[in-house]
Amino acid sequence: MEQDARLEQLQAKGYPVPGRELIKTEQQIDGIRRACQLSSQILDMVGQRIRAGVTTNEINQWVHEYTIQNGAIPACLNYEGFPKSVCTSPNNVICHGIPNNNPLEDGDIINVDVTSIVDGFYGDVSRMFLIGDPAREARELVQIARDCLYLGIEQVKPFNRIGDIAYAIEQYAKQHGFSVVQDYGGHGVGVNFHEEPFVQHYGARENGMILVPNMVFTIEPMINAGSYKCKRLKDGWTTVTVDGSLSAQWEHTVRVTETGAEILSE
Ligand code: MF3
Ligand code: CO
Ligand code: CO
Repeated sequence: MEQDARLEQLQAKGYPVPGRELIKTEQQIDGIRRACQLSSQILDMVGQRIRAGVTTNEINQWVHEYTIQNGAIPACLNYEGFPKSVCTSPNNVICHGIPNNNPLEDGDIINVDVTSIVDGFYGDVSRMFLIGDPAREARELVQIARDCLYLGIEQVKPFNRIGDIAYAIEQYAKQHGFSVVQDYGGHGVGVNFHEEPFVQHYGARENGMILVPNMVFTIEPMINAGSYKCKRLKDGWTTVTVDGSLSAQWEHTVRVTETGAEILSE
């Protein structure tokens, strides 16, 4: 009750507070949690098989078959025309890489981004994988991007703002000489693939929606070794760094709890 009063007060002062539909019910959270657990299991499976010589089309096939065998649906397939069941984004690809027949090579880094639909609920998670023995700078970028995700998650608690997450991520990335992609961000997720709020990964603490228990959204910082600037290839999806520098991304789906965050996709 005290919480409702505080929210009403903030709303009256013009702060962006979440609409009712963004506060998930227990039943919705159970479904989203199961979808997240399957997506995470799929990444475990990918991690056991990925190595130099494997093509991203083979990864797509593993993800597709595992998803279907578990009675789920790969959310990416045909999503706004996306042609495959998973996004695979190696090296200078920031996000939304389309699986193809190029084999992975020793020294590559790659993001694999899986979203599964289980009983109508969405779970969205991505990880980086190291192929063979990447250079020190590449490994450092992957590690810092992961730290950025967890530092962002540490900011998740009732009455903090999306801006608190963004600020923590950007400060840490900058300290290490890396940049934060601005054109893409995290998002509410669960009942639909992409819901409100938009989760910006850079900028001031005073930005973005107020966090309230049982909101569910992703945090998925894209960290570049060089410039933050992006460009999209002619295929309409693949997004790469303008300067050809490496990019790394990790993603979790999280729920705001009474005291902090529950990582649904751990
Ligand atoms: N999983 C991505 C995200 O984190 C979205 C991929 S959309 C697709 O939001 F169409 F490219 F698959
Ligand atoms: Co994703
Ligand atoms: Co996402």
